[in-house]
Amino acid sequence: MLRERIRHRPLLDRVVSADEAAALIKDGMTVGMSGFTRAGEAKAVPLALAERARKDPLKITLMTGASLGNDLDKTLAEAHVLARRIPFQSDPGLRKAINAGEVMFIDQHLSETVEQLRTNQIHPVDIAVIEAVAITEQGGIVPTTSVGNSASFAILADKVIVEINLSQPVTLEGLHDIYIPTRRPARMPIPVVTPESRVGLPFIPVPPEKIVAIVVSEKHDSSATILPPDDDTRAIAGNLTDFLLNEVKRGRMGYELQPLQAGIGTIANAVLHGFIDSPFHDLKMYSEVLQDSTFELFDAGKLGFASGSSITLSAEMYRKVLPRLVEYKHRLILRPQEISNHPEVIRRLGLICINTALEFDIYGNVNSTHIGGTHMMNGIGGSGDFARNGYMSIFVTKSIAKNGAISSVVPMVSHVDHTEHDVDVLVTEVGLADLRGLAPRERAQVIIANCVHPDYRDALRDYYVRASKRGGHTPHILEEAFSWHVALRDRGTMRSA
Ligand code: COA
Repeated sequence: MLRERIRHRPLLDRVVSADEAAALIKDGMTVGMSGFTRAGEAKAVPLALAERARKDPLKITLMTGASLGNDLDKTLAEAHVLARRIPFQSDPGLRKAINAGEVMFIDQHLSETVEQLRTNQIHPVDIAVIEAVAITEQGGIVPTTSVGNSASFAILADKVIVEINLSQPVTLEGLHDIYIPTRRPARMPIPVVTPESRVGLPFIPVPPEKIVAIVVSEKHDSSATILPPDDDTRAIAGNLTDFLLNEVKRGRMGYELQPLQAGIGTIANAVLHGFIDSPFHDLKMYSEVLQDSTFELFDAGKLGFASGSSITLSAEMYRKVLPRLVEYKHRLILRPQEISNHPEVIRRLGLICINTALEFDIYGNVNSTHIGGTHMMNGIGGSGDFARNGYMSIFVTKSIAKNGAISSVVPMVSHVDHTEHDVDVLVTEVGLADLRGLAPRERAQVIIANCVHPDYRDALRDYYVRASKRGGHTPHILEEAFSWHVALRDRGTMRSA
């Protein structure tokens, strides 16, 4: 069994326990681990590391693709292993440690981490820990359900630990397309010209002598925590579908639309799910995380091809998809996140980018990351990579949160992830604001009329009318701009007293 998975025979001698492998990680090291939105993370070594740190404290900088599954971010945070964490997380336990100032979190565009590593702008990776489905005859590492930053971590690190996960199906082999951009300046164009373009290798090429330890694990990926569509997300999907249909009718694109990118979480998944009942067909995805909706669209005959960096599914969808992977495989590619999220490719393919906002303001600035302007939620992830470079940048959110105590549309966002310059369309369950070609004063009127919950619309219009009397290109009443957030902090609601 193991011989089928470790096909470079000399490496069979390097199989060790998770404790022995974790012992190679020393205090102060920078560790690059596989894992992207709860998919394909190394599972046994980080657990052994946390266990060891409880007896013998140590701290590391942990880089990954994105968030880890199996509660590993929580476990590592609780064992006080994490001095620094790069570039994304979504765990409530780690979030708490970040917001307490215990873990230094570098919230980074997901396409950028390995560019900075490659050029020694940040501390190099001392050791990489990569989950694999197999090691090829030549010593190439075949990743599992995500690629993320694994390829560059393994290529750039001094040493590599591989976790062969026997629970990950061997049919994953052949799904990956590992392409590493050439050095700058005078970098060659990245040759991805359609979502289907295969431009690299089906494994991560590393000299086998760099693989210092191999650990065998059998733990499954943890399932996604997204909620099923509800009335509001169905309404958001309906508003977006009507808008895109109008774009088709105006001759701007065909029923196959432009390739789609959809962000993480419940809302983005529900919006894509809504396309099942739309007139669109022969859709393609060039995205980052492939969620349940990707496979629902495949099964509904709506989607022709999907390129991503990870597959993150609900428990039910895992049970359905993994045994039938061969049926989907010819329509799927998993790429390194710097390629799935690369500005050059995103611009070339002309993606329709659909990401989620926590809040946006009357001019279209978007906050995706900071609750109340100070407390980290998850991170910007790939939303900035896509929003800045897409054909059309769309942000979706419900118009209210926490039973209406919070309006998702505010006078001024308390933190800016996506500036008004990167935001073309805003959608809530109330309606849609098409901001293309509009100046700030026009944007404010369209946003207030179309996206705001009725409970907050008059108050927001009143703010804008009073602000505009003060003049300016982007009128504001600075002493009042955050009054809604202050009211939430002090009174537990943004509703006027
Ligand atoms: N202020 C405070 N809390 C808010 C809020 C606001 N304006 N808007 C939403 N929330 C809360 C919700 O109440 C919910 O809280 P709960 O977990 O206690 O129930 C939580 O935020 C998540 O909101 P939800 O409506 O369930 O949205 P989601 O699951 O679709 O996630 C983001 C939304 C913004 C958190 C998520 O999409 C994200 O992290 N985005 C940034 C990264 C990204 O876009 N990556 C994609 C690139 S491919």
